[in-house]
Amino acid sequence: MSARLIDGKKIAADLRAAVALDVDELAETRKITPGLAVVLVGEDPASQVYVRSKGKATLEAGMKSFEHRLPAGATQAELLDLVQRMNADDAVDGILVQLPLPAHIDANAVLDAIRPDKDVDGFHPINAGKLAVGRPALVPCTPWGSMRLIRAVEPKLAGKRAVVLGRSNIVGKPMAQLLLAADCTVTVAHSKTNDLAAVAREADILVAAVGRPAMVGRDWIKPGAIVIDVGINRVPTPDGKGRLVGDVDFAAASDVAGAITPVPGGVGPMTIACLLENTVRAAKLRRGLALT
Ligand code: GUN
Repeated sequence: MSARLIDGKKIAADLRAAVALDVDELAETRKITPGLAVVLVGEDPASQVYVRSKGKATLEAGMKSFEHRLPAGATQAELLDLVQRMNADDAVDGILVQLPLPAHIDANAVLDAIRPDKDVDGFHPINAGKLAVGRPALVPCTPWGSMRLIRAVEPKLAGKRAVVLGRSNIVGKPMAQLLLAADCTVTVAHSKTNDLAAVAREADILVAAVGRPAMVGRDWIKPGAIVIDVGINRVPTPDGKGRLVGDVDFAAASDVAGAITPVPGGVGPMTIACLLENTVRAAKLRRGLALT
């Protein structure tokens, strides 16, 4: 392995410590304790794990955590009613509805119902639009965390070639907007792109967010590139427990890349740290306080 390892766990721990300090200061100087409400509909095992870790991290940062669990059969009207109550609740600064939602619920209708100034996921079209036109917004946590990891190894991004693999609303599209805002030359590639490997190989910064285990191989990577692996895929193992792997073939890629994130311990911890940061930002924004 020649690549430098980008330690997401450490960078996320530092960010969480900074957020906790900010929370302490808000409590002391303004008597405000930010609150994050997380909603889980149904019993998807991966979503249950994520929601539990988000609640735990929120409490550890000194904030209030509100967890709402609805049965898989909950109606869209029930969920929208809950969103309206959280929108109106002054103790709630951030609202996150865990995705995916059951198929009978229109996820867009739910995301549209969340107050944009409490939208700590940054998925509301108003926040997505603000990001696209370069105005201050609540930014989706995974791409925002990925930008922090990129900047940790390369502060000078202007003019760099960036390739984003994947075009989801949650990661690919906002990731491309953030890289563009940092003056990179950005390509968004996806499952219909001709010769994905050749496109990926042009990248000084390669972000993989496709959800396909170890798809990005050695010949996809330009020597010295920064590789950010957003994928979290569980693959079967003989003991039946399964193992987490990213979208990048880590062993092969780390021979070629200049710097690379591991899975687990790369982007994943940053997503939660940035969610906490967004909750504090939302608490300040709603009260007209200056952001630090
Ligand atoms: N499901 C997978 N990632 C996310 C995320 O960042 N936010 C929400 N709400 N759901 C998700």
